[in-house]
Amino acid sequence: MRFQTSILSTLFLALTAMVPMPVQADETVTIGDNEFVSYGLKGFGYVGASAVDKYGDTISFGSSVALQKSSLSVASDGTYTFTAYGLPDRGYNVDGTNNYIPRLQVFDISFKPSDSDSSDTGNIKWSYKDTILLTDFNGNNMTGLDSNDKVTMNGYKMPAATFHGDGWGNDLDSSSTTTAISLDAEGLALIEGDIANGFWVSDEYGPGLYKFNSDGKLVDYIKAPDAILPHVDGKVTYSSGNPPSWDKDDWKVDDQDSGRDRNKGYEGMDLSSDGKTLYALLQSATDQEGGEKDYTDGTVRLMKYDVSSSPAKAVAEYVLELPTYNDPAYDSDKNPRVAAQSEMRYIDMLTFGI
Ligand SMILES: *[C@@H]1O[C@H](CO)[C@@H](O)[C@H](O)[C@H]1NC(C)=O
Repeated sequence: MRFQTSILSTLFLALTAMVPMPVQADETVTIGDNEFVSYGLKGFGYVGASAVDKYGDTISFGSSVALQKSSLSVASDGTYTFTAYGLPDRGYNVDGTNNYIPRLQVFDISFKPSDSDSSDTGNIKWSYKDTILLTDFNGNNMTGLDSNDKVTMNGYKMPAATFHGDGWGNDLDSSSTTTAISLDAEGLALIEGDIANGFWVSDEYGPGLYKFNSDGKLVDYIKAPDAILPHVDGKVTYSSGNPPSWDKDDWKVDDQDSGRDRNKGYEGMDLSSDGKTLYALLQSATDQEGGEKDYTDGTVRLMKYDVSSSPAKAVAEYVLELPTYNDPAYDSDKNPRVAAQSEMRYIDMLTFGI
């Protein structure tokens, strides 16, 4: 049997590509009795840089995209339509972190696979539909701000930011403070491919695994094992070393001794098709395993959790070797470089409807 496997995987690889599409040869792989064919790049599309969501914030969704499986349909002319959920990163953090509220952006997408497209907009059309803000166990907004604090909720001690004013550098003299969970969102998985069941988000501060209901309210949390929690001077310290935009000169964080390297947390995450097993992968090695340098950080930890009931159970931990490449911009003692991983997808026969 032959299956057309390219549509979804190719689509998501192609989302941000804005280059002419190279025509690629089909690639075939046989697994057991089944032959799978990848047809290569079949589309590209994008959301304009000036697009804003219903809260007036610039739309981004660069961390991960997940498909609402029940929404997928294909018209007689070969056009696919579906709803997709996009996960922005921690907001505008090019010049320090800010009180950007983590969220999902909801899009209706239409996509007609093609080997070429000369239009300005591409053949994957994104229509913004809605925004779901991510809130904590009590319904309060989370924040993209770097963590300078911890908060305990439902028995879990989680990364948090405490700040004066609005978290954008206004009203800094205000005597009252706000404390919000700090989330640097990276991975997204809808439970059984359906937003109605809720979803999991992976994060880089903790690094943590957060389960939300369909309204974006936190309902469960998985704390990383001690060896992965970031430690400074022997204490768990969640800061990624990215100061708030208004406090860049005064903010100082000491070197980390162990745990996930800064900004190298759970960058990849996915669920098994039945929604019962969650996998989370660090972006590169922990600091005690070479994480501080981009040419020694290739040994990376993959966590496996049984999430069929709460609290989740740790089932296994694996060690992966990441691929490497040579970068002529560096001397030979700093090569080969490690290709830190940015995304992970769970694929089984159910993914192809088998
Ligand atoms: C969360 O942020 C949204 C958007 O700014 C705001 O409308 C809402 O009131 C906030 N929620 C809480 C509980 O403060």
